[in-house]
Amino acid sequence: MKKFSNLNKLKAANLIQPIFIEERLKSKKIIKGLGENYSHTLQSAKKIITSDINKGVKNFLFFIIPKKKQRKPEDFNFHYQVLSNIKKTFGNRILVIVDTCLCSITTDGHCGVTHKNKINLNETHKSLGIAADTFIQAGADIIAPSDMMKDTTKYLKSLFKKKQYKIPIMSYSSKFFSSFYGPFRNAAKSSPKKFDRSSYQLPVHDLKKAIQSSITNAKQGASYLMVKPGITSIDLIKEIKNKTKLPTGAYQVSGEYASLQYLSQNKLGDFDKLYKESLVAIHRAGADFIITYGARDIAKNL
Ligand code: PBG
Repeated sequence: MKKFSNLNKLKAANLIQPIFIEERLKSKKIIKGLGENYSHTLQSAKKIITSDINKGVKNFLFFIIPKKKQRKPEDFNFHYQVLSNIKKTFGNRILVIVDTCLCSITTDGHCGVTHKNKINLNETHKSLGIAADTFIQAGADIIAPSDMMKDTTKYLKSLFKKKQYKIPIMSYSSKFFSSFYGPFRNAAKSSPKKFDRSSYQLPVHDLKKAIQSSITNAKQGASYLMVKPGITSIDLIKEIKNKTKLPTGAYQVSGEYASLQYLSQNKLGDFDKLYKESLVAIHRAGADFIITYGARDIAKNL
């Protein structure tokens, strides 16, 4: 739990690099807008992780995308294979954080199990519980639920208690219904069908609700909290930390990172400078950790 807290200067130890691993692929595939981020095979993922470790990156957030879609996900076998292989290969040289959501697995791309164009909360929790349990058995160090459904942290916490798991929860605790997730949804194959995510993600204008959502997750047993997107949510960080006393980070999401890439590609700015400024600003706002697509590029330059 001390892991990310009390930083003074922004350091590589406080950055988290996302990694996408997709079952369907024979070789790695570019993700539009995200620079050096690819959808990986297990083999190519292991290669980039080895190179990232040499660049000073230790913390990884895994997004795992299986071939088979399920209406009520209960088969997380591909996730198990990937995570146990990664853990066996790298051991404690890396911190394995696993994004725990259903949107890359459900047939309709929603973050929960749906019934008649609505989320079924019980079924959703059941699926997420099977997912988290599988990831922990495969060696996950931290479980990061990003579904934004009511009481997921509470559900997982009681499951962990029953199973005597001591694995911390990093909750996507203040996650907005945002238009900045575009490049990610392409990569994660997770665009929702039929209805959007506004019934479970937070409305951007509602400060009170956003703060309350993190407080609720803290009360339910999360060890780490997060705001998302990063730059558009930095005003929340200090208040969340004051009220919960928990390490609180920010997710600089795909659309934010891609916008910096596009500025520089169009010769409207220097990428390294734009990128560093964006991270320093998020850090200045109090973020204890930052999930960001360029951790590997900047780790040595901090
Ligand atoms: C899945 C999830 C999303 C992101 C992280 N986990 C997409 C969404 O909620 O639509 C977004 C990450 C990014 O854009 O970089 N629940």
